[in-house]
Amino acid sequence: MKTRHLIDLDSLSLSEIGDILHMAEAIAKKPSYYSDSCHGMLMATAFYEPSTRTQMSFQAAMLRLGGKVIGFDSPDGTSVSKGESLKDTVRVLSGYADIITIRHPLEGAAKAASMYSAAPVINAGDGGHLHPTQTLTDIFTLLREKGTLENLTIGLCGDLKHGRTVHSLIKAISRYKGNRFVLISTPELALPAYLKAVITENGLEYEEKDSLADALSMIDVLYMTRIQRERFAGHEDYEKQKGIFILDTEKLYNAKYGLKILHPLPRVDEIEDEVDDDPRAVYFIQAEYGMYARMALILHMLDGETKHIDPRPEGDGERVCSNPKCVTGAETYLPKLFRRKGGKFICEYCDKMK
Ligand code: NCD
Repeated sequence: MKTRHLIDLDSLSLSEIGDILHMAEAIAKKPSYYSDSCHGMLMATAFYEPSTRTQMSFQAAMLRLGGKVIGFDSPDGTSVSKGESLKDTVRVLSGYADIITIRHPLEGAAKAASMYSAAPVINAGDGGHLHPTQTLTDIFTLLREKGTLENLTIGLCGDLKHGRTVHSLIKAISRYKGNRFVLISTPELALPAYLKAVITENGLEYEEKDSLADALSMIDVLYMTRIQRERFAGHEDYEKQKGIFILDTEKLYNAKYGLKILHPLPRVDEIEDEVDDDPRAVYFIQAEYGMYARMALILHMLDGETKHIDPRPEGDGERVCSNPKCVTGAETYLPKLFRRKGGKFICEYCDKMK
């Protein structure tokens, strides 16, 4: 059965992901051929957190498919500011629209929204948790620029702790054969343990480094990220971390000829402007590829779709998630859902261990 909501790319089989990438390739070659594919359809974009690229990329994708778009890009002018719950907002929007994209500062918010939506929900970023459509963008870019998703040595650099694009990408790339990861960060911004476990559970290897220059000669792909200022508890902590990893043309002397440099954007200071003209820098075309990937995803999700709200699972009694950024803390009506791993309980919304 095809996936109704896209909260985590894990819910798609590799063959479904392959179909979407195949469609994205066809669209990228001839976008105008698809200009009527979503005629009469409406997308709602519910953005509770700032975004330029993701929101406009979804808007451009739906408009290029012949559909229309409604939505908000800040909760300020909506009933959310009057205290409306996420479930009520989503339920109403899903009556208006055929598909909903949601971005929210709380982890697990997209999953929570999907449980009350009659229309398919796409996670456009839930706090520091996941960002599956950026990952579709990233793997489509890898496929176009490297020709494969296997046997790559991928360096990820910057804020590996808070970067949801990093988290989603590692989960997805770990499903393909023979990949290796080089994790370049300060100890404070290292990749969370549960994601290191994902790599090793898939039989893959990773290495941690604190020097970008040292890592550059060994990698096929460099995924640069910005330090996620908005996810720090205090300004001082952010100040200590910013400006540590900066890519410039000098560092690139040691890099492979076939290296590809990706970045989800926005960039702050982690890549010097001089790198933009290096043929190995693909981050601007990556943003364009993201629009084709999202067009393909929308077509995949709307295919044969009829509106309904799926039955909700029963909650797990009194157990609560200990993550202060989990959506279940703010939206208290949500059924508390956990899966067991070893002797531990893992929250189904934010994936944090209890
Ligand atoms: C990313 C995000 O929002 O997580 N941006 C994006 O969607 N293109 C990366 C970031 O904000 O650093």
